[in-house]
Amino acid sequence: MSAKIYWFSGSGNSLAVARMLAEKLPDAELIPVAEAVNNQPEAADVIGIVCPVYAWGPPALVVRFIRKMKASPDSYIFTVMTFAGSQGGAPLLLRGMLQDRGLDLHAAWGVKMPENFPPLGSAPAPKKQNEINGSADEKIAQIAEELQTLPRGSYEVSGGIWKIFSKIMYLSFRYFLSHRADRFFRADSNCNGCGLCAEVCPVGDIEMVDGKPEWKGRCEQCYACFHWCPQNAVQYGRSTKVRRYHHPRVSIADFQPQK
Ligand SMILES: Cc1cc2nc3c(=O)[nH]c(=O)nc-3n(C[C@H](O)[C@H](O)[C@H](O)COP(=O)(O)O)c2cc1C
Ligand code: SF4
Ligand code: SF4
Repeated sequence: MSAKIYWFSGSGNSLAVARMLAEKLPDAELIPVAEAVNNQPEAADVIGIVCPVYAWGPPALVVRFIRKMKASPDSYIFTVMTFAGSQGGAPLLLRGMLQDRGLDLHAAWGVKMPENFPPLGSAPAPKKQNEINGSADEKIAQIAEELQTLPRGSYEVSGGIWKIFSKIMYLSFRYFLSHRADRFFRADSNCNGCGLCAEVCPVGDIEMVDGKPEWKGRCEQCYACFHWCPQNAVQYGRSTKVRRYHHPRVSIADFQPQK
């Protein structure tokens, strides 16, 4: 049985989940969505999609990947989506996208993890981060256990009404989640030109020009550049001098190569 787990992640939450699941599935291969979207791997018997929730929906890069993903109608497909407050009907939207391609989503789980969307404010304080990640680890272990039987029809999301709410939310935020929303990024005077923001970006949106990062309008809004800058020098708009966060078991090196 072949298994492929596709992951997309900004602050490392979803990558940490994907890794824990891959350890429990025999011969599971971990593949970054940012790489697979341009170079679709062959279909697998078991396919996992692990990513964050963005505005109650899947990230745009994941949507583009799903539209081309190689899978057979016999493939077992599951998703685990990480979120900070509410996942809304994100798994239902993802399921609809698969169904448009004649595929199905057989199971969906959600894992609550620390917030990483700076326009909404600071990431939680370190003690709170530990508490949230502790509960998340228990939940991921439970998911890994349940996955052993490849359950079908198991969705951790209530009612189709969520699909309608989520579609409205998703469409309302489309502008803010667009590639060009990166024009609000800037590096402040603490930037030392190390280039790590460009390295961690999954889609090559950042170019170093005269020792400073420039954002080039290909952004996927993952906020990796924001959270991983060692100098906390990346700012978004006017009000993002807030606490940064990344998952404690993930490092910048884990993000490469993605593109
Ligand atoms: C652009 C964006 C939109 C988000 N939208 C939501 C949301 O609708 N609901 C929610 O609970 N969390 C939302 N979040 C928070 C993330 O889903 C959450 O922190 C996730 O665990 C981040 O995972 P990652 O580190 O793998 O990127 C959003 C984060 C970003 C960056
Ligand atoms: S990671 Fe931070 S310090 Fe390094 S180049 Fe980017 S903005 Fe500057
Ligand atoms: S520019 Fe920053 S927020 Fe946009 S995709 Fe790259 S790392 Fe993510």
